[in-house]
Amino acid sequence: MKSKRILLGITGGIAAYKAAELTRLLVKAGHHVEVVMSEAATRFVTPLTFQALSGHAVYSDVWDARPDNAMAHIEMSRRADVFIIVPATADCLFKLAHGAASDLISTMASARTCPLIVVPAMNRQMWENPPNLRNVAQLKADGVSVWGPAHGVQACGETGPGRMLEPEEIADLLHGFFDEKHLAGRRVLLTAGPTFEPIDTVRGITNISSGKMGYALARACRDAGADVTLVSGPTALPPPMGVRLLPVQSANEMYQAVLHEVGHSQIFIAVAAVADYRVKNRSEHKLKKGEHLPQLELVENPDILATVASLPAAPFCVGFAAESQNLLEFADSKRRRKKVPLLVANLAQQAMGADDNQVVLLDDAGQHPLPLQAKSDVARAIVAHIATLL
Ligand code: C5P
Repeated sequence: MKSKRILLGITGGIAAYKAAELTRLLVKAGHHVEVVMSEAATRFVTPLTFQALSGHAVYSDVWDARPDNAMAHIEMSRRADVFIIVPATADCLFKLAHGAASDLISTMASARTCPLIVVPAMNRQMWENPPNLRNVAQLKADGVSVWGPAHGVQACGETGPGRMLEPEEIADLLHGFFDEKHLAGRRVLLTAGPTFEPIDTVRGITNISSGKMGYALARACRDAGADVTLVSGPTALPPPMGVRLLPVQSANEMYQAVLHEVGHSQIFIAVAAVADYRVKNRSEHKLKKGEHLPQLELVENPDILATVASLPAAPFCVGFAAESQNLLEFADSKRRRKKVPLLVANLAQQAMGADDNQVVLLDDAGQHPLPLQAKSDVARAIVAHIATLL
């Protein structure tokens, strides 16, 4: 993502301390971050903290004469690519929903020309207060993006909706906010991660797969405007924000989940490293070491991608091939055998567990090699390629 000018508004809630970490993440990602705070926010965290983290003066007073022409509310919001308010209190949402211009942040929001994002944080009762929900609905109707809140334990000790998204989640969503909406209005179904085929209650057969490529693709589809469902085998990754996650264990569970969901999807991307075989004579109890070696009888798992690709109303199917040798030859024969219009070929030894990946896209037009880059960038390039083929 290119460097953006981000105007970060902070209003007065305890979650304000998390805006410091968000500032750090955004600056680290190369963005120009300018911070404005409500008077209440400065009671929770000092402007100095944000000045040090952003490297720019922090404003909290509409009467502050420091900006060049003493018109901070116009100047700062005009030069921003986006105005994001983190956290946004109930009072802030009320002001924005009613077009107030009664303090620096609401005045800047009224005077802005860039998109506005609010990330609410408040007690669950305050969130569910009907006037607050009306304000949120009004903001959405006005084209404001409302991110979160999450459900969980709150600073007040209660549990419910109103928890602010984590700084990493906000930075992730902001990263994709400016992406081209290649897949707007499309429904995408993906598989990711390994599958786990039990042998007994504590052992199983699995593949090495971190799930990073599949999760990056789910995010890239989300950022391209798609409605995304991710069927994932066991991974250690946090669930991507704004993606419907269906966790599964075995190939059969993945197969069932995919068949259940695929009818609603226009695009199916199979990234999962599905185990080819499962154990037929799975033990209900932990196998004990004894005189005889246990005999495992294996049966073949269904090929999820090939099944979906052969459905009468098949979605646009994308497959992956991780090979350790003869990459393009094996990948091309896999593409033909599974009858998928697009196949992404990568070297298993390079792709597995890594944060970067180098892939070749194979379609009817031929081979399209991509450079070695972060999996998030590989994912974006794949999404852009899919959009050209649809
Ligand atoms: O394992 P294989 O190399 O055949 O995987 C190629 C593609 O097929 C991958 O996209 C993978 O997710 C998919 N696949 C599947 N179900 C299987 C095996 C593979 O969907 N049982």
